[in-house]
Amino acid sequence: MNKFLTLFVLLAIVATTTTINALDTYGVGIYNVNNAIAIGIIDYSAPPNPSTQLTITGLYYPNSPFQISSYNYVTKYLTFVALEPGTNNPFLVTVDCNAWRVAYELPLTSGISYAGFQYDQTPMGQLNMFTTTWNGNGMLYVSKMNPLNNQLSTTDSFPGTLLSTAYQTTTYNYMVTFSNSSGIYTKLYTYYGQLQAEQQFGFSNTNLQVYSGPTNMFYNPQLNAIMATVQLRNVDGSIFSALAYMDWSYGTFKLSNMASYPGFVITTSVPDLLNKNLVYSFGYVQNIFYIYTFSPATNTGVSVVQYNSPVLSAF
Ligand SMILES: *[C@@H]1O[C@H](CO)[C@@H](O)[C@H](O)[C@H]1NC(C)=O
Repeated sequence: MNKFLTLFVLLAIVATTTTINALDTYGVGIYNVNNAIAIGIIDYSAPPNPSTQLTITGLYYPNSPFQISSYNYVTKYLTFVALEPGTNNPFLVTVDCNAWRVAYELPLTSGISYAGFQYDQTPMGQLNMFTTTWNGNGMLYVSKMNPLNNQLSTTDSFPGTLLSTAYQTTTYNYMVTFSNSSGIYTKLYTYYGQLQAEQQFGFSNTNLQVYSGPTNMFYNPQLNAIMATVQLRNVDGSIFSALAYMDWSYGTFKLSNMASYPGFVITTSVPDLLNKNLVYSFGYVQNIFYIYTFSPATNTGVSVVQYNSPVLSAF
């Protein structure tokens, strides 16, 4: 039934060259540097340094497992929650990554947690981002949001605890995976935020105990699959992270062999945008950041390289 029993451990390799290559895959990442937020260009093919394009002082980007940032690939706008040091007052920051400037910085209501950000990949100036919020009363609220003025249109609410969200760009569906006392479920919403379907989920293709997850869900267009991170408990008690595939019809997150070192926590995963059939996962073990390159084609890790910047979200 299940052959995924052993954890493979990759050896760190050291990147020695940083060459600009037209075939390299570039993306955008968020990290904190010296009490400021840095937004940089990531060359996924050439770790270990992003190229910082913008520094935002007086705010920091929290390490959240709940997707508090999203990137609009159409407009190249990046929106995220940032906190003021000391007060922890939340702000919604939108960066124009064409001009590398802060386009909007708006205060958010304290006491409401904004998460599950997913741009619907349409132009700005409308309700074009999904968010799932909560305020401590046990309910989750699914809304479409205009990140340029904080306008919210709530389309659904239900009791639960958020795990992760994803946006399926080919069918325009927003997916919200959450737990309640009966288990793990995913609700599927239309582009307009109307509930279309829901499914209960378990885990498959592992004999190991699931420690936490799924988190960091994302749509992989090359495989037409929703992928996620699941943390598993190894037989020796150590916890590690592995990528899993959502199988909607069977209601399972199917574990892959694309797994990390013991102790490694994935902060964000990005599919390759040049159809190389690779997935890049940033994360850390003992405060040292690494980038894993995984190959869904071979169901293995390709490399793991120490990374100089603590990338918390990437696109
Ligand atoms: C948990 O959520 C599912 C899916 O919406 C629902 O069917 C079930 O009744 C919920 N369980 C509880 C205890 O609320």
